[in-house]
Amino acid sequence: MKKVVIIGCGKVGITYAYSLISTKMNLDEIVLIDIDKEKLNGDYLDLKHSICFSENDLKIKIGDYEDIEDADIICITAGVAQNTNTTRLEDIEGAKNIYKEITDKLKKYKFNGIYLIASNPNDVMCYSIHKYLGYNPNKILGSGISLDTSRFIEILLDEGYETDGYVLGEHGDSSFIPWSNFTIDEKNPNEVFTQEEQNEILKKVHNISKEIIKSKKATYYGVATNLTRITKCILDNIKYTMPLSCYDKENDVFIGNIATINKDGLVEKIKINFTEKEEMEYQNSVNILKEYNEKL
Ligand SMILES: NC(=O)c1ccc[n+]([C@@H]2O[C@H](COP(=O)([O-])OP(=O)(O)OC[C@H]3O[C@@H](n4cnc5c(N)ncnc54)[C@H](O)[C@@H]3O)[C@@H](O)[C@H]2O)c1
Repeated sequence: MKKVVIIGCGKVGITYAYSLISTKMNLDEIVLIDIDKEKLNGDYLDLKHSICFSENDLKIKIGDYEDIEDADIICITAGVAQNTNTTRLEDIEGAKNIYKEITDKLKKYKFNGIYLIASNPNDVMCYSIHKYLGYNPNKILGSGISLDTSRFIEILLDEGYETDGYVLGEHGDSSFIPWSNFTIDEKNPNEVFTQEEQNEILKKVHNISKEIIKSKKATYYGVATNLTRITKCILDNIKYTMPLSCYDKENDVFIGNIATINKDGLVEKIKINFTEKEEMEYQNSVNILKEYNEKL
């Protein structure tokens, strides 16, 4: 019996639940937890009505913290709704209080599965689970940088380029693109884009969420699909390598890296050969994240 518990069923949490229902995988039960009981009941009923003609034979229910004991994944999507006036890092105070409240409840029950974190600031909230619960950091994954990578790939596709590239570092304004490690249309990126154009692409990656939030006050489809992909790898035990937030033991931070995952969470953080500039960009993200981890 495979079970996912979602804590914080707002726009991201509910879209993730819907994406789980719509994606074929080894999943038997989804449990929804939120403090806004009235809205949760409406979303629960609406989601329940989407199951009967879906390809998945699963159950969904409104639950509580005792439901975590036999769960495979706890996905935390509770948080402060995004806005265009603050950075993800600046939302730390609100996010910290919510995570303290949630972890105080989680502490009362035994859980051995994987924590999958969507809340922002993503890398810092992953660290908070490790810090507040003393939980094995290799069993904590954050979807953060996978979304920056999806955005990067789509921005290039819109301009007519294909890439096997990715974004790394903080899921936030210090994320960077390690151009020396991949190709654009099978060519060295430096042959395709000038330095100025590369900077412009990174700026677009950083700013596109603000454009979406300005238009409809939130982003949720991209993150929900990426969370679903990670969930499928865990539940179906698929060994898969992708960009996500995982534990960097050397620097004692959670940060966007290329990681291989499976049912046990992090199998391996892939070593990337950075140029001197890329190494500095990675360290810049590390330093920012360390500073915010200290605020927890
Ligand atoms: N990782 C990503 O790529 C990504 C993308 C988009 C949004 N996010 C983040 O996801 C989080 C949620 O965003 P959203 O748009 O769904 O916001 P939202 O306001 O729609 O949902 C937040 C939900 O959390 C619930 N909640 C608050 N405190 C709680 C608690 N103590 N226990 C249980 N539930 C609680 C609220 O009732 C609400 O339903 C934010 O932190 C946002 O920044 C991450």
